[in-house]
Amino acid sequence: MKKNIILFFCALIFSLIGCLASLKNFPKEPCVTLPSDKLVATIHSDCIRCHTNDYTTKEDICVRKSLIINAVAAGRMPKMGTLPKEDKDIIVNWK
Ligand code: HEC
Repeated sequence: MKKNIILFFCALIFSLIGCLASLKNFPKEPCVTLPSDKLVATIHSDCIRCHTNDYTTKEDICVRKSLIINAVAAGRMPKMGTLPKEDKDIIVNWK
C-alpha cells in the first residue's frame, strides 16, 4: 500500500517536470533556416521528454533557433543533464 503511494508521487513529479517545460511565453523569431532531419532527431531524443509540445515540427524548432542555440551553448539545457559532445555540436552549429 505504502509502495503505491510512493509510486504515485514519483509519477506525479515526473509529469509535472514535463508540463513545466513550455516555451509558449518565450518570443518566437522568423524562421530562416529549417532544421535538418538530423537536427530534428537530436532535439527529439534530447529535449522532448520535458518539452513535450515545444519541438513537434520543424517550424516549432525553427522559430526558437537562437533560444535553443543559446541555452545549449551556455549549458542551461538540457536541464539536469549534459549532452554528448556530438549532439551539442549538431545543435549549436545548426547542422
Ligand atoms: C529535464 C527536463 C528538460 C530537458 C531534458 C530539457 N529542458 Fe529545456 N526547459 C526545461 C524547463 C523546466 C524549462 C522552463 C524554465 C526554465 O527553468 O528555464 C526549460 C526551458 C528551456 C528554454 C527557455 C529558457 C532558456 O534557458 O533559454 C529553452 C530554449 C530550452 N528549454 C531548450 C531546451 C533544449 C534545446 C533541450 C534539449 C537539448 C532542452 N531544453 C531539454 C526542462 C528541460
